[in-house]
Amino acid sequence: MLSKYFKPSLLKKISESAGTPVYVYSETAFLKQIASYKKAFRSIDPLFCYAMKANSGGALCALAAREGWGADVVSGGELYRALKAGFEPGKIIFSGVGKTPEELEYALKSGIFFINAESFEEVAELERVAARLKVRAPLSLRINPDVDPHTHKFITTGKLGSKFGVSFEEAQKIYLYAAESKHLEPVGAQFHIGSQVHSAGPYAVAAGRLAAFILKLASRGVNLRYADVGGGWGVKEGGEMADPAPLARAVAGVFAGTGLKVILEPGRSVAAPAGALLTRVIYRKRGGHKNFIIVDAAMNDLIRPALYGAKHPVALVGPGRGPEKIYDIVGPVCESGDFLAEAARLREPAGGQLLVIYSAGAYGFSMSSQYNSRPRAAEVLITGPSSWRLIRRRETYEDLVASEL
Ligand code: LLP
Repeated sequence: MLSKYFKPSLLKKISESAGTPVYVYSETAFLKQIASYKKAFRSIDPLFCYAMKANSGGALCALAAREGWGADVVSGGELYRALKAGFEPGKIIFSGVGKTPEELEYALKSGIFFINAESFEEVAELERVAARLKVRAPLSLRINPDVDPHTHKFITTGKLGSKFGVSFEEAQKIYLYAAESKHLEPVGAQFHIGSQVHSAGPYAVAAGRLAAFILKLASRGVNLRYADVGGGWGVKEGGEMADPAPLARAVAGVFAGTGLKVILEPGRSVAAPAGALLTRVIYRKRGGHKNFIIVDAAMNDLIRPALYGAKHPVALVGPGRGPEKIYDIVGPVCESGDFLAEAARLREPAGGQLLVIYSAGAYGFSMSSQYNSRPRAAEVLITGPSSWRLIRRRETYEDLVASEL
């Protein structure tokens, strides 16, 4: 259970000082997921590149960097934050289907590890930028292995027909082209089949296809060094990440002994269990046959329930009254889609009582917005049994208009 990382007495103190809604992260929980990955994969010693999109906050990123991890970035902004957080440039990879020439230039000037390109046109652009800078761009291709990861359709990416990656046939053409270029250096190949994947089977199939392809490419004279199997390993709702041992066995089973260095891009699995959203009850009411709890967090703070139907466990901080009832937990935003939990089973909270929403460390704050002109929440890092610090201040009303001219 994740509640052990978020003690009620500490949550109360945090809410009194930082206010609500507030994202609360546990350093211990974050480091524990990192340790689980390292242990499960120790036989092949891969490079882990933390997928910053899950949570790009500097404090968590700095922890990952301190553990020797690199970063997977998907925009110039993430690259900027990665460098600022202390990731070594030589351990940063740049993914994404639409990198602009400016972003490619920024990446090359920063001396990053390699770029995961996703189309022939992008590779041609990368070549032009590299030529202008008089460098050789380290290139990897994102290949679409046509594997179904059996997850939500919005986060399924490894089937042909999605916008991601190139087919093996196209990849072969691009590698043969790149191998002839003075300004491109083919170094790796990547896939990312999707997110919230709960079984190792799809990875084994995709990894097998990638390994066979890399071997075939070697016979054509293009020798790659890195096999990047992406991220996507799932998290049990309300729990730690799924045991990574089956994933490690599947990946090692394919790549051990090949001489290829394996790269992984985990995001959710390290960040989700480490974060909770702390919110306060504003009002309670009945609407038709339903009981509503109206809280001060909303879909602008955590959009996953509205967007993906994600079920984040909710608990009262402190005791509730009477028997358990079924509640919809909703925010103040003017949309019926603004709910944080539907049909949650809770005892009745008091007005002003705190609620904690678990498994919110990934794609929580990083997907938050100012919709309804709601300043974004504060963020706090718990660093010990009774110690914590503010890692991002709550936005103010002035922040809402600060960029307007
Ligand atoms: N690498 C690439 C190229 C990716 O596109 C992603 C996630 C990852 C790694 C990390 O995947 P993870 O380990 O976090 O599953 N907003 C959605 C998730 C979108 C995932 C997008 N790509 C959600 O809240 O469920």
